[in-house]
Amino acid sequence: MDTHTRYTGLIEHYRDRLPVSETTRLISLGEGNTPLIQLQNIPRLIGKDVDIYVKFEGLNPTGSFKDRGMTMAVTKAVEAGSQAIICASTGNTSAAAAAYAVRAGIKAFVLIPEGKIALGKLAQTLMYGAKIIQINGNFDAGMALVKEVADHAPVTIVNSINPFRLEGQKTAAFEIVDELGTAPDYHCLPVGNAGNITAYWKGYSEYSTDTATHKAVTDKRPVMCGYQAAGAAPFVAGKMVDNPETIATAIRIGHPQSWDLAWNVQKQSNGWFDSQTDQQILAAQKMLSQYEGIFCEPASATSLAGALQDIASGKIPEGSRIVCTLTGNGIKDPDTAIAQCKDAVPVTIDASLDAVKKAILDNI
Ligand code: F0G
Repeated sequence: MDTHTRYTGLIEHYRDRLPVSETTRLISLGEGNTPLIQLQNIPRLIGKDVDIYVKFEGLNPTGSFKDRGMTMAVTKAVEAGSQAIICASTGNTSAAAAAYAVRAGIKAFVLIPEGKIALGKLAQTLMYGAKIIQINGNFDAGMALVKEVADHAPVTIVNSINPFRLEGQKTAAFEIVDELGTAPDYHCLPVGNAGNITAYWKGYSEYSTDTATHKAVTDKRPVMCGYQAAGAAPFVAGKMVDNPETIATAIRIGHPQSWDLAWNVQKQSNGWFDSQTDQQILAAQKMLSQYEGIFCEPASATSLAGALQDIASGKIPEGSRIVCTLTGNGIKDPDTAIAQCKDAVPVTIDASLDAVKKAILDNI
């Protein structure tokens, strides 16, 4: 008997916990099953007895966690007969929507804020061949337009207000529980629209709920910690923010779409929201690269930046097991990465053995 099982994506893997039937055509690129990496050097560096893991979602097919939601949303859109999808995006959703639309053979329209999406995300979305509509406005303005236009054109919205997105994204929590054997004590996430924090909570909750069809995998759920960029922190302000600004363009959002859902997560999990300055976010991004060999995009590092602050203050106590989601790959935003490494400009030397030898010996 063939004992090998090919991993073909998260819908197939968690089929019995997702809204698909035997006849549903699955639109998949093999997403999910991302590594949960235990940090080794940073806990030592900060001198705290904490067990920190990062869930590296940047290793999904289009380089972000959006693929989890998009496989599900596009699968259901196609099942319902949709010929076109649409989203507003700060970049990652547009890349994922574009890729899964190609896979399905349908059209993708994406609204992006002009000049405010990272270069890699633009390159991807162009290559996948989506119809890109740039607007003179931010994500929030784009989102409002997408909701309006969907009433006037035959397009399915695939932003996280589409409930199938959260269904797909909840599987990240399943994977963590499957790997650790239980939920962590704390789960830290960057928050923009707050769809992802909502999805993780749904995932942890479903794994801890004994239903007629599913037995409980764990009865533990983590404290959920949502971190925002200081210039785009409506959950910290307690109200919508009209002109959000941050270098972490992925989470440059002032009017989160999952407002009520995320407040429920905070209450039910005894968690909290907090913010990090751009400097703290970039410092955490660099720290992950330079001490652990993990390159995530700026917005993603907000989860670790927040965790480190709350570990330092004791709000997250020593002895805790913490998971930080790294939502996107660092390669998505080369401009911000290169600008951060101004002091490490590559040296240019003669193409000779002596010159190379000297360059090594001077630096060893
Ligand atoms: N991290 C990254 C890298 C993101 O791209 C996003 C959202 C988030 C975190 C926040 O997740 O919205 O569920 O709270 N990006 C969306 C986009 C807005 O259009 O790509 P959230």
